[in-house]
Amino acid sequence: MLGCVGLLLVALVLQGEQGTLGRLIKGHEARNYDYTIYHPLAEISTWMGQMVSENPDVVTLVDYGSTYENRTISLLKIGLKSDVTKKAVWMDCGIHAREWISPAFCQYFVKEILRTYKTDSKVEELLKNLDFYITPVLNVDGYLYTWKDNTTRLWRKTRSPGTDGCDCIGTDLNRNFEANWGMVGVSQNCCSNVYPGFKALSEAEARSVVDFVEPRKNDIVCFFTIHSYGQLILFPYGHPNVTAPNYNELAEISQAAAKAIKAVHGMTYTVGSFAEALYPAAGSSMDWARLIGIPFAFTFELRDEGSFELPENQILPTCEETYAGVHSVITYVHNKIFYSAAITASATLWTTLLATWFSCTFFS
Ligand SMILES: *[C@@H]1O[C@H](CO)[C@@H](O)[C@H](O)[C@H]1NC(C)=O
Ligand SMILES: *[C@@H]1O[C@H](CO)[C@@H](O)[C@H](O)[C@H]1NC(C)=O
Ligand SMILES: *[C@@H]1O[C@H](CO)[C@@H](O)[C@H](O)[C@H]1NC(C)=O
Ligand SMILES: [Zn+2]
Repeated sequence: MLGCVGLLLVALVLQGEQGTLGRLIKGHEARNYDYTIYHPLAEISTWMGQMVSENPDVVTLVDYGSTYENRTISLLKIGLKSDVTKKAVWMDCGIHAREWISPAFCQYFVKEILRTYKTDSKVEELLKNLDFYITPVLNVDGYLYTWKDNTTRLWRKTRSPGTDGCDCIGTDLNRNFEANWGMVGVSQNCCSNVYPGFKALSEAEARSVVDFVEPRKNDIVCFFTIHSYGQLILFPYGHPNVTAPNYNELAEISQAAAKAIKAVHGMTYTVGSFAEALYPAAGSSMDWARLIGIPFAFTFELRDEGSFELPENQILPTCEETYAGVHSVITYVHNKIFYSAAITASATLWTTLLATWFSCTFFS
């Protein structure tokens, strides 16, 4: 009898011990970085390096692509080592150059998950079961260009030249993906802000995303692409005549996210398919992600409702509410995939322990 109780106690103590030990050896908090201002590319690159050096066990830098002007596109891979077969979450920011709040959010998101997993066991569980692939600036050439001077601040597209005698620069990356490419919501005039390119995946930046995501499409369960402005949570599709097979579930997840956002600072975000809630548009990265089989794909359009130049004093509140929305989505997806399995595992554990307990009681 004593032996059996001892066994149970050892099991409980071990569980507690692991928690304490875990907290002691985890990474350090990010320092000296101002999350309330917009940062030029060089500072974001330095920050990415700092995230890796300050959290070497959790964060890895992955250079996965290059731009038209031959700059490197990088992401941070964030996750804890785990025995389970991990799933993954994709998040890209800055696909449209002028939407500066988007890269600001990716940085805030990284900072927050790295800060909270140390004390919040739910976030820790997310990092154990999921790897996060986060690209703070996808359209690197375009982002640099928006920082050049006040005449280039509102640049949206890539920096590649037009073809066939069209002299304008740039393709809209969010019309360049292989998803009903060129069919709706585009202009074939290369001077247009919604020029989809001379063919699908004409742009090096879009090809970089595809080359990274496609081989991992069975692992990536959730795909976020972060934009501004409009205060919208959008899900597939941008093509008005195509409906996602999990439309109802995507709508429910998005509504829950909008509710989570509203609870933070009272802001209203509108929910709908891209075509319904924004405008019909083909060739977006979100539509492509859903078409290749990633079940949960979302476009977040952050604050405000009229300008790409969101004042810096709104960066923090925008990031806080968006974090709540994104966290709500990730928690849903995570629990759907892992929670039923976890319940089974812990039920098995308890059944075993109880069985041991009863057999001890009865037979000693
Ligand atoms: C990018 O690099 C390739 C290979 O070195 C070169 O041919 C090309 O001209 C470069 N592109 C730009 C825009 O500098
Ligand atoms: C752009 O910057 C120039 C030089 O600093 C300044 O004279 C001009 O007023 C600015 N224009 C706008 C629209 O802000
Ligand atoms: C959607 O379907 C309607 C009705 O068949 C058609 O008129 C319209 O052209 C379609 N839209 C696109 C973008 O294909
Ligand atoms: Zn955008």
